[in-house]
Amino acid sequence: MPTPETLLKSVFGFDAFRPGQEEIVSAIEAGRNVLAIMPTGGGKSLCYQLPALAREGVTLVVSPLIALMRDQVAGLREAGVEAGALTSANTPQDNERIFEAIDRGALKLLYLAPERLASSRQLLARLPISLLAIDEAHCVSQWGHDFRPDYLRIGELRAALGNVQTAAFTATADEETRAEILRRLFDHDDAPLTDDVGGGGEDPAAPAVFLRGFDRPNLYLAFEAKASPRKQLMDFVLPRKGRSGIVYAGSRNKCEVLATALRAEGLDALPYHAGLDAETRSHTQDRFSREDGMVICATVAFGMGVDKPDIRFVAHADLPKSVESYYQEIGRAGRDGAPADTFTLYGVEDIKLRRLQIDESQAPEERKRADHQRLNALLALAEAPGCRRQTLLAYFGEARPQPCGNCDLCRKPPELFDGAVAAQKALSAIYRTGERFGVEHVVDVLLGKPNERGERLGHDRLSVFGIGKEFDRNAWRAILRQLLALGLAAVDGQTGGWRLTEDARPVLRGEKGLQLRKDALKARGAAKDDRRPAPAALVDEADEPLLAALKSLRRRLAEAQNAPAYIVFNDRSLIDMATKKPRTMDELATCHGVGAAKLARYGAEFLEVLTGAPAPEAHPTRIRAAAAGTGEVFDALHAAQLRLARGAQGTDKLLTCTNSTLSKVVERRPDSLEALAEVPGMGPQRAERFGPAFLSILAAAAEA
Ligand SMILES: Nc1ncnc2c1ncn2[C@@H]1O[C@H](COP(=O)(O)OP(=O)(O)OP(=O)(O)O)[C@@H](O)[C@H]1O
Ligand SMILES: [Mg+2]
Ligand SMILES: [Zn+2]
Repeated sequence: MPTPETLLKSVFGFDAFRPGQEEIVSAIEAGRNVLAIMPTGGGKSLCYQLPALAREGVTLVVSPLIALMRDQVAGLREAGVEAGALTSANTPQDNERIFEAIDRGALKLLYLAPERLASSRQLLARLPISLLAIDEAHCVSQWGHDFRPDYLRIGELRAALGNVQTAAFTATADEETRAEILRRLFDHDDAPLTDDVGGGGEDPAAPAVFLRGFDRPNLYLAFEAKASPRKQLMDFVLPRKGRSGIVYAGSRNKCEVLATALRAEGLDALPYHAGLDAETRSHTQDRFSREDGMVICATVAFGMGVDKPDIRFVAHADLPKSVESYYQEIGRAGRDGAPADTFTLYGVEDIKLRRLQIDESQAPEERKRADHQRLNALLALAEAPGCRRQTLLAYFGEARPQPCGNCDLCRKPPELFDGAVAAQKALSAIYRTGERFGVEHVVDVLLGKPNERGERLGHDRLSVFGIGKEFDRNAWRAILRQLLALGLAAVDGQTGGWRLTEDARPVLRGEKGLQLRKDALKARGAAKDDRRPAPAALVDEADEPLLAALKSLRRRLAEAQNAPAYIVFNDRSLIDMATKKPRTMDELATCHGVGAAKLARYGAEFLEVLTGAPAPEAHPTRIRAAAAGTGEVFDALHAAQLRLARGAQGTDKLLTCTNSTLSKVVERRPDSLEALAEVPGMGPQRAERFGPAFLSILAAAAEA
């Protein structure tokens, strides 16, 4: 059986594993049960698809959404892998294809919705199932909002399949969810995180737990405090016209308003939220996945089930609910690995609203406390004084020694100032007014602006009244926000009243200094600055026409088979082609995402666009060799066998090798005449005639 490394290139066309993938695949190859937590778009699917291809039997994949399964199956089939999905939406033809593949023993992956588990018991019992993969495994957890009761049956299924090896995947990183997955799927209370596979595995049945690969280096990270939010958002989105993107907004109404505003600017934008009927929503989602360059203005209801790889930007018009949600939502951008931009707006009102939502939820107290903590972590990220990626990865437990160079704060490090005195003034104002007023009232007091309520309560006679005239209203808001983010002040979700925390004391007493961000204090409107980059350039300007031509070929091929554009090749592949400009099948095969099946199916047409001339006909075995990176060896063997067809003198009996024999020689790389003779189609006669030449070609190739 081929190894996962070779399959990575030959089937999927990828040059290297992404962070975390290799260890997870090795653990599965070593027979371990696995729970892997990787971020959205981190590449979890490959972690079970490669082992599935590298072993005998069928890998059963439990996945929660029909749309997700369909996409995966389409992608796999396009890569030449026999896969199918058993869902309630299947036609009799769909099922026939699956059963036929099962009978041939060809089916490698079978996707199944959890609802089908019980009814498919009999079928499953007859299948040679060698691995059970659980995608979106957080669906077993009551903690998450994606909880699916049917996921609880997976345990029974596992038992019925004789506790078959199981690998579970999720992007949800919090500890409660992780513990619950372990308990429900593996009957294990807790398993420590696995630092290196093999080590520490006293109990081989215990699942290996990986929390990996949280970095998504191609995502540009940026936050801005709201000053004139609509304008800020438009300034970010409009220059990205023609690219696929998502704008997340806090309310249904806002989604509608933003979509209308974008359409007025000539963008192809549509709203998506739970208030729209199911048909409209599914139509919108469908168009978004298939087409290039649409913008969806959505509530968080949009996202799960979207694994469009070429989303080029995600903007948050309002603050998300936690670091986890933030990362999951921006993580939908740039899954193909090509550059993508993200942009998050936040303001004091958002923070208040989020607090209120947490406090008013039905969750138990401990859960609410945890949710407030999560929100605090997000605020700290929003107000971070240095590299956002470092702050973000630290939250997920990944240390990163160097600033990333791909976030707003790396692009232009913020100026800091000694904020001790300002903090003392603000904290005193909160304290003296009784720790129950909202931000605007506190700022009124600092600025010495009388208001009716304040006068009634005598706030205009306090020592803090008017002590903050050196800053304007906007600056004080920014200072208060930073105090909140630093955890020196807290806001009551219900009343919006600010109070001090324990950590405020040393600052108030002047025992502890603090640095605040100066840029945040600038007047309204000035927030727009050069931190916000131009849309990430995908190719050199000179190559843009070529990229456009490749995209239009892609669109034509996709439309012909009524499939999303990225099923043919994703953006990253086209960008790679436009940059490398391959002239031959061999060169084309080195481009990102070009595996054997796609090379055979689309190679000639793309080469024609790339070279401007019809591509020469190539034999299928030769194309496979190109995909495997062995085209040149193949050609050398081919030339040698033509040269020696009548022996070295040209007088012997005619002997030839078929292309398929040659490709087996390339694959097996025999290192002796005996081994060469063993290759099917060779035999002793051919080994004698061609052996010395072939062996020296193979040896030279091995050295190169
Ligand atoms: N080693 C790799 N090299 C290049 N691209 C890769 C690699 N592994 C995966 N990808 C690509 O990354 C994208 C995201 O992968 P995948 O769908 O598996 O993400 P995921 O972790 O399942 O995310 P989600 O949580 O959203 O389901 C896909 O387009 C996939 O083809
Ligand atoms: Mg996935
Ligand atoms: Zn950075």
